Amino acid sequence: MNLDFSQIVPYIPFILEGIGATLKFVSVSIVIGFILGTLLALCKVTKVPVLKPFADAYTSIFRGTPLILQLMIIYYAVPQLTGYDISAFISAVLAFGLNSAAYISEIIRGGIQAVEKGQTEAAEALGIPYRPMMAHIILPQAFKNILPAMMNEFITLTKESALVSTIGYLDLMRRAQVVGSDLYRNFEPLLFAGLIYWVMVFILTQFGRLLERRLRQSD
Ligand code: ARG
Repeated sequence: MNLDFSQIVPYIPFILEGIGATLKFVSVSIVIGFILGTLLALCKVTKVPVLKPFADAYTSIFRGTPLILQLMIIYYAVPQLTGYDISAFISAVLAFGLNSAAYISEIIRGGIQAVEKGQTEAAEALGIPYRPMMAHIILPQAFKNILPAMMNEFITLTKESALVSTIGYLDLMRRAQVVGSDLYRNFEPLLFAGLIYWVMVFILTQFGRLLERRLRQSD
């Protein structure tokens, strides 16, 4: 068997730097996705006209087309219209943030609708206006219920992040490929990158469990 892990040793720091590069844009994307996703979810449950069809169309478009296509449109196609280049990092954050917002909005909408109707009725009976009711009564309960689904979304984003290697962003995946072509050996660097992805997802999973347990205790 032709395997020699000692050859990738000098490249390990280079590959490990990819963890930071990956985590950096994934965490920014998650924040964007969460904020935008919450706003879209509110649009979906509101009685105000126009907002719901808008949010539904948004979700339909971003869920109905491949993420890699959205990434490439932002990185390669938009500059053709605007005349300005968009850096790989900004493109990645935009594509992942906008895409994730579509998924997160559905998660949160489900969470809002799962909150017992009596909660809204009680708030209304007490004369609590719509905004504080949403912000202090409905959303906090919704967020608690959707934690497992949100954790899933974070894990998906972390793994899908490897797509940015196609626009030259030096993430973990791209670095493993660079080392592979430098060494003419792909198995070792790719396996090493795979191990790192697995560890990242494992840590995320454990963190999610911990958070869930904490929230259950506070009940
Ligand atoms: N591979 C899928 C796609 O290209 C993943 C989409 C991202 N998923 C997500 N939950 N944000 O459409």
